[in-house]
Amino acid sequence: MQAATAQVKFEHRPNANPMSESQKAKAFEDLGFGTLFSDHMAVVRWSADKGWHSAEITARAPFPVDPASAVLHYAQEIFEGMKAYRTADDRVVLFRPEQNARRFAASAERMAMPQLPEELFMQAVEELVRIDASWIPKGEGSSLYLRPFMFAAETFLGVRPAKEYIFCVVASPVGPYFKGGAKAVTLWVTETYTRAAKGGTGAAKCGGNYAASLVAQAEASSQGCDQVVFLDAAEHRWVEELGGMNIFFVMNDGSLVTPPLNGAILPGITRASLIALARDNGIAVNERPYSFEEWQADAASGKLREAFACGTAAVVAGIGTVRHAGGEFKIGNGETGLLTEKLRNDLTGIQRGEAVDKHGWVYPLAGA
Ligand code: PLP
Ligand code: COI
Repeated sequence: MQAATAQVKFEHRPNANPMSESQKAKAFEDLGFGTLFSDHMAVVRWSADKGWHSAEITARAPFPVDPASAVLHYAQEIFEGMKAYRTADDRVVLFRPEQNARRFAASAERMAMPQLPEELFMQAVEELVRIDASWIPKGEGSSLYLRPFMFAAETFLGVRPAKEYIFCVVASPVGPYFKGGAKAVTLWVTETYTRAAKGGTGAAKCGGNYAASLVAQAEASSQGCDQVVFLDAAEHRWVEELGGMNIFFVMNDGSLVTPPLNGAILPGITRASLIALARDNGIAVNERPYSFEEWQADAASGKLREAFACGTAAVVAGIGTVRHAGGEFKIGNGETGLLTEKLRNDLTGIQRGEAVDKHGWVYPLAGA
């Protein structure tokens, strides 16, 4: 379903009532995650007969959605998560945005949706960040979270890939994903629910995966936990990932273990970046199956020194306590470990344009 890459020009219809600088400054004082939105959005439409068309940057506004719109019934929807940062020397930078464009195309393919050309994805993101550059918060730990997404917009109840889609990017100034900030998080291991099976949609970033995770996430919250951990669907034995993050284990020989990309796990860009940074530091990284049984035994024996969760929204979060139906255990002293902190600082240093970017991951945005 690869569509031809016609050069698409974005029409600009700026918001006639943008938020004032003083209101914005007030709103930035206490940033949470995903509650505040910038003035604009980027929109591109696709139809089977016209391909990609009607690209625009316009005031952020609701879409009129027909009650028979395909997405409302069969959940043909995918999304991405990425961040724009304002550096200390006042540049605007993105982090590995072409990786998000590539994963978006892969998600589209899995969901039988048209593949947005990567350059059009980049153009939409860049034009939105440029027009809403004043929405990038400057504080440490804050950024402008970008949410590109696409949904089936055809009015049709038959079960087949839709013939019309809307691609959109919205932007949200954010602070820390977890309310506790840098404090180690508590996880709930669900032994009731699974997230994805081989051959399913686990490796795609589709809304349906998150819909399926919500009951388990609610279970985690009711147990006083920050995030849910999913085990594999076939044996309920192997650790896969969290509701919205990948997971790493730091062993007492200094090596890292992380579950392999087995088709059921989201191939995280943060995960890939941390593997590269660890290897740069001479740290061995083993992408191998790690069982819940092994996890408990290693935490008890001290073979496991640290563990952390990682993702665009969460960045790198130390894991302190793990709860499950049979009890709970701590990792190390229950606080964020030293290597976790080092990897977080190394990564955020690069993302914020403060550290040497030897892999060329930082994407400066001219004219913002
Ligand atoms: N796993 C899941 C289920 C996610 O939702 C995310 C977040 O996007 C990740 C892993 C981490 O991916 P990334 O590092 O690309 O943000
Ligand atoms: C992200 O990290 O971008 C995600 O999509 C995960 C979600 C927890 C917000």
